[in-house]
Amino acid sequence: MSLVCFPFKEEDVSIVVRNVEYAAQHPRVHAVLCVGYSKGETWHAIANSRAGIEARTGKRVILLLQKRIGLSLRGGKGDGMNTALLYFAENKEYSRLHFYDADIVSFSGDWITKAEQSGDLDYDLVRHYFPRSSTDAMITWLVTKIGFSLIWPNTYLPHVEQPLGGELMLTRRAVEVLVKDQRVMQQSDWGIDTLYTFVTAQAGLRVSEVYVPEGKVHALYGGLRDLRTMLVECFSALQSLQREQIHPLAGLHRMEPPKAVPTAVREKLGYDIEKTLKLLRDNWTPRQRELLHKHFDSALAKGLENSSEWPCWSFADEEAWVKAYPRFLEHFEKGDDDWEELLFKIWVARVLNHTLKNVVRGYDIALGTLRDLVRDTQHKSALQIKNAKRAADIAEKHPL
Ligand code: DGY
Repeated sequence: MSLVCFPFKEEDVSIVVRNVEYAAQHPRVHAVLCVGYSKGETWHAIANSRAGIEARTGKRVILLLQKRIGLSLRGGKGDGMNTALLYFAENKEYSRLHFYDADIVSFSGDWITKAEQSGDLDYDLVRHYFPRSSTDAMITWLVTKIGFSLIWPNTYLPHVEQPLGGELMLTRRAVEVLVKDQRVMQQSDWGIDTLYTFVTAQAGLRVSEVYVPEGKVHALYGGLRDLRTMLVECFSALQSLQREQIHPLAGLHRMEPPKAVPTAVREKLGYDIEKTLKLLRDNWTPRQRELLHKHFDSALAKGLENSSEWPCWSFADEEAWVKAYPRFLEHFEKGDDDWEELLFKIWVARVLNHTLKNVVRGYDIALGTLRDLVRDTQHKSALQIKNAKRAADIAEKHPL
């Protein structure tokens, strides 16, 4: 029997309440757990509709305020999801825990059915994935998938299609792995998805990604500034894991093949370009210029400095990003405003470069360049690691 969790903040209440009822109606679902960030309008709307949903479906609707668990980081999505993990761990009558974002307009019982069916094939973790616009998922592609490719190229991590996805199903075994892990429980912010993905891979769990063709309908971002906190927290989570090892044969990853991408997704622009162009000019400090020239390639440093005067982005191509990434892994300091702003600006320039060089050539070309970038990075990094290991073995066998 399954428990479905909707973590929520302030959302469109009619969508949230409807989704709670859809979940409660599902025959595999025993109860619905709503974990709120605060007691705002959405909280009260769920509280007011709870008795009606329980009466109509015969299922419990539980409303919890998220706990403050990871005390060293900002309290955010991680605390919300981890509050649900702890609730599930204590309440042994449930065998599976599902998570869905509360605001999914296209949510239906089919999302639950798909995950349950993969669970029946004994996967420990089931992730939903769906078609996304060619300008959406820019943290997923450029931070998480590139990071996985650089650091753990021989594992299945770079192949996980949506490693930051908030729609997933965990078995009790997977929940037990996560709640015992202090790295996970401390990750109270946006970095939580990276931790769930990484830790379940490191523990050798079996992962299935199921495809939801209708996708997740949600609003267009304003300028990319809306994603700054998420970018910093996702990068920093990955940076904190960079010395961790994973056995290349650990775990198993299976992916349901995708279907044709709907026209609405192919044509959607994920963010406001005009607002974003201005971001490269903002918030410069002398120390940012100093860090830029000290730690990064001169072409990138020069290009970014030029963009403080006039919008330009051609310097932030794929190669420049992959070269800059290890510099950030080594030197980036979360909480240091100049480092955060540099990461943000270089990422903004990369996203603009992708948009105005690749996306303008059509959806398939744009997605193709993202996939090629991940594959090439993974391949080059695997060879580099192999060569470094070979050199270290030789040095050990034949000391000078
Ligand atoms: C991502 O990159 O996946 C984030 O959800 C922003 O789109």
